[in-house]
Amino acid sequence: MEKDEYGCNKHKTLEDLLIFYKEGASDYDRDVKDYRGYVGHETSAEVFVSILKQHNFPESSKILDVGAGTGLVGEELHKRKFTNIDGFDPSQALLNEAENKGIYSRLFVDVLGPNHQVKVADNTYDAAICVGVFTLNHVKAEGAMDEMARVVRPGGLICFTIREDVMFELEYGYEEKMQELCRNQVWKLVSSTKEQYHSKNDFKKCFLFIYEVL
Ligand SMILES: C[S@@+](CC[C@H](N)C(=O)[O-])C[C@H]1O[C@@H](n2cnc3c(N)ncnc32)[C@H](O)[C@@H]1O
Repeated sequence: MEKDEYGCNKHKTLEDLLIFYKEGASDYDRDVKDYRGYVGHETSAEVFVSILKQHNFPESSKILDVGAGTGLVGEELHKRKFTNIDGFDPSQALLNEAENKGIYSRLFVDVLGPNHQVKVADNTYDAAICVGVFTLNHVKAEGAMDEMARVVRPGGLICFTIREDVMFELEYGYEEKMQELCRNQVWKLVSSTKEQYHSKNDFKKCFLFIYEVL
């Protein structure tokens, strides 16, 4: 499969992406940390937990890790005492790695995307976190941000990253969708910051947003 200069494949479809992740699942944690200096999971968890605490969310809050992958975000939430975490991801291979960590209450295969509801009832979670998923050749806004807002209860918080190189790319629709959900009073902005994402490649920063569901 064709790779870019950072070893990422130039996947264009979900099928390509799943092959890419299946091939690298067992080395994923080492590769992203050592090769790319990935720290997005740590910075996101740090900011999110501090805002959960400011908003008086108990450590028992039920949190959904969207695009959980191998569970790097779950591990960081666990370290910070938030341990009631479910997760989903389209890659069973990555979820197998997450399962081995023994930190998620429930893991399941599912996917964000247009015209698709994930297998979760409305208002199920107190909070959701989605790190590294709104990024190049991964997930666009349409049907994804709306879906996170559907499964989190009113008053709950949603945290997600958007990698800096795609933040304003119109074809991904991030800004427009975030504004639409504000206009339609689906959610309101709580926090918007720029955070460290990688330390060893060109995409060093991500935008980190936290919204409250209305
Ligand atoms: C860069 S990894 C990040 C994984 C994890 N959140 C982390 O921080 O280590 C991107 C993840 O997005 C998942 N993904 C790709 N397409 C997706 C989709 N349509 N819906 C949900 N997750 C998706 C991938 O399977 C992969 O686990």
